[in-house]
Amino acid sequence: MTADTTGLARTPPMGWNSWNAFRCDIDGEQIREVTDALVESSMREAGYEFVTLDDCWMAHERTDEDELVGNPERFPRGMAALGDYVHERGFAYGIYQSAGTFTCAHRYDDYPTSGSLTHEQADAETFADWGVDFLKYDNCGDHLDFDARERYRRMWDALDATGRSVVKSQCSWGEYEEWEWAREVGAHTWRTTTDIHDTWDSVLAILDQQVGLAEHAGPGGWNDPDMLQVGNDGLTTSESRAHFSLWCVLAAPLFAGNDVREMDAATRDILTNEAAIAVNQDPAGVQGTRRKRDGDGEVWAKPLADGDVAVCLLNRGESTREVELGVDQLALPDAAAYECRDLWTDEAFAVEDVVGATVPGHDVAFYRVGAA
Ligand code: GLA
Repeated sequence: MTADTTGLARTPPMGWNSWNAFRCDIDGEQIREVTDALVESSMREAGYEFVTLDDCWMAHERTDEDELVGNPERFPRGMAALGDYVHERGFAYGIYQSAGTFTCAHRYDDYPTSGSLTHEQADAETFADWGVDFLKYDNCGDHLDFDARERYRRMWDALDATGRSVVKSQCSWGEYEEWEWAREVGAHTWRTTTDIHDTWDSVLAILDQQVGLAEHAGPGGWNDPDMLQVGNDGLTTSESRAHFSLWCVLAAPLFAGNDVREMDAATRDILTNEAAIAVNQDPAGVQGTRRKRDGDGEVWAKPLADGDVAVCLLNRGESTREVELGVDQLALPDAAAYECRDLWTDEAFAVEDVVGATVPGHDVAFYRVGAA
C-alpha cells in the first residue's frame, strides 16, 4: 500500500535537529537526554514535533546484506530502540541520509559513510522498520549521472512504497531552483541555501536569499532557509530573537539546533513564544515577504488567515534606528481602527498611519496588526 502523504506538513514542520549544536558528535544517550529536555522545557508543548538525527548516526559500513545500520559504539541499543524512546515521549522520529554515494560526513576523514543513491528501496524499508517519520535527504556524494529530480524522486517514491507516512525534507542547498519542482517530486520542504552558521551575517545572508521565493510556499510544501541557530554561541539574545521572528514570518520549518539540555531561560522563552509560533504555523500558510528596505532598516510582513498581518521591523545594523511602514501598505481588511500587538512583550497599542518602532541594533520589533 502506497502511503498517502497529502495531509502532511500542512503547516511548516517543527522539531529539533542535532547538527547545529553537535555536528558529528552524537550518540543515543545524548539524544535521549535531549528528548527528555524537550519535554521538560515545554518545547514539545510549544509544537516541536520531530526529534531528528542529522549526519554521523550510521556505521562506517553497510551490513553483509547491504543494509544500513547505526554506529554500534554511538548507538549500542540500535536505531529502532531510539525511535521507540522518541515516540514514547510524544515525538516523531527524524533521520538523515544523502542522495548520493556518501553523506556529507564523508568529508571528515574519520567518518566514512554510505549514501542512499541506488539503495533507495532497501534504505526506505530500513527507515520504515525503525519507525522513522521524517527524512532529511542531503546532496553529498557522487551523483552517478542521475539528475537531481531523479535522485530525490527515487527516495520519495521508495518511502511512499513502504506504506509509512514520512515527511520529506530535501536538502539540496538551492542548487537546482528546487522551489520550482521539489513539491512535484514529493518533498514537503526544500533547502533554499547552503548551510546557516551561528553568526548575524549568516542569518542576514540567508534571509536575503528568500526574496522572490514566497510564491512557491504553502500548505504541504515549504521553502527551507535552514535550521535555527537560536541559543548557539555566536548569536546574542537579541540576534536570536530577530532570527526566530524572521523565520516565523518566512513560514520556515522551525528546527531548533541548540543543546536544549543546557539552554538558558532567554533562549527557551524565544523558542517557545506561542504568539510568534502562531504566526509561523498560521493555517493560511503564506510566506512573508520584504515590503521595504531603507538602509539597515527593513520591514517584512506575512498575511494571516484571520486578516491580521504579522509585521517584523528589522534593524540589520549596529546602531538603534527607526523602522516603519504605512498601514496602507499592509492590505488590512477595512476597519475603523487598527491595533498592534507586540509579540515579544504582549503589549497592545493603537496604530494610526504607520506601524513603526525604535529598534536597537541587530534586533527586531515583531507585531501582529489587525482591527482594533
Ligand atoms: C550538509 C547539510 C547540513 C548538515 C551537514 C551534515 O552540509 O546542508 O545541514 O546536514 O551536511 O554533514
